[in-house]
Amino acid sequence: MAHSLPSSRFSVFLFCILLLLLISSSTVSGARLGNARLTDSSSIRRILLNNGLGLTPQMGWNSWNHFHCNINETLIKETADAMVSSGLAALGYTYINLDDCWGELNRDAQGNLVPKASTFPSGIKALADYVHSKGLMFGIYADAGTQTCSKTMPGSLGYEEQDAKTFASWGVDYLKYDNCANTGISPKERYPKMSKALLSSGRTIFFSLCEWGNEDPATWAPSIGNSWRTTGDIKDNWDRMTSVADQNDKWASYAQPGSWNDPDMLEVGNGGMTTEEYRSHFSIWSLAKAPLLIGCDIRSIDSVTFELLRNKEVIAVNQDKLGVQGKKVKKDGDLEVWAGPLTDNRVAVVLWNRGSSSANITAYWSDIGLKPSTVCDVQDLWAHSTELSVQDQLSAQVDSHACRMYTITPQ
Ligand code: GLA
Repeated sequence: MAHSLPSSRFSVFLFCILLLLLISSSTVSGARLGNARLTDSSSIRRILLNNGLGLTPQMGWNSWNHFHCNINETLIKETADAMVSSGLAALGYTYINLDDCWGELNRDAQGNLVPKASTFPSGIKALADYVHSKGLMFGIYADAGTQTCSKTMPGSLGYEEQDAKTFASWGVDYLKYDNCANTGISPKERYPKMSKALLSSGRTIFFSLCEWGNEDPATWAPSIGNSWRTTGDIKDNWDRMTSVADQNDKWASYAQPGSWNDPDMLEVGNGGMTTEEYRSHFSIWSLAKAPLLIGCDIRSIDSVTFELLRNKEVIAVNQDKLGVQGKKVKKDGDLEVWAGPLTDNRVAVVLWNRGSSSANITAYWSDIGLKPSTVCDVQDLWAHSTELSVQDQLSAQVDSHACRMYTITPQ
């Protein structure tokens, strides 16, 4: 008995030590859990293509929408000249991208792609050098099948490493990779091969997937490319442009810095839509963090087209560092509100009238993620005006097929 008290004290002492150890080990395991979460989120970040490009959507020009196969080195050089002299380059339009039809039908005896002698007699390297000498970046086009869509050039299927090395040796900065003549093999098998080949080509090359949204690329392409087409080809008309915008909208949550949904290149300035329709096209593409690749002839651009493509405030929404794709948040028949968050708690909003007559459209703060009581300054990005201390809602009369675009800044 005499020894039982100290021994029971000793047990209590031991119990306390054990308890302390348990608490500290659970704290450690809690910390580990925290670390594990951090590791999880950083590994989520790591599954993006690791080439450091596309932290904001790509901007530039591509030959297809206006010129189709009628391209040559003089046109591309003049386009690069015009990009700089017009001031568009200084606004961020830096890629000059060749599309289909730049090469010969067949590879050479070593299996290399060959620039088309009749239209690119100086070769692609000389052209890329010229584009670089203007302070711009140079992009090219290839196909993840046996032939390109125009059927005038070989595809890269089975030649991924060789072609990636060729592009790197020419000084290519950007590859658009198309999906024709694909022999029925899934894009999920064909596109990663080119992605890997580009990463080990010795040059940092932006990778733009173009499999037309066939196999829901938003769900697998972020680890492979910097952008992926979500739709078939755009056309220079209202119905097709609006349909492409809607199809792309579905994938909004998958976009983030480094990897973007691509509803196809701009038709602004090609003549098939009205000015207001083009303004809507440019506004929605900007809000949706779509690539801003001009698709008209910038050597002979008219002043109205310039006014659209050179709107700094609209471009700033597209290039906002937060990188969250704005989306359709409200629809009342043909009257729509599209919105998305920007840096510094700001919100970008487009009021879009897709109907055939003028109408009033209202965005309530609750529609666009703001508390009704929030006092905000509202900047109209097309009228270039600011309204101070606005609360609860924003309304505007909007013409048929027109839009109004704003950034809203809580005070
Ligand atoms: C496909 C692409 C277009 C264009 C053409 C070229 O249709 O989707 O963007 O590149 O091929 O032939």
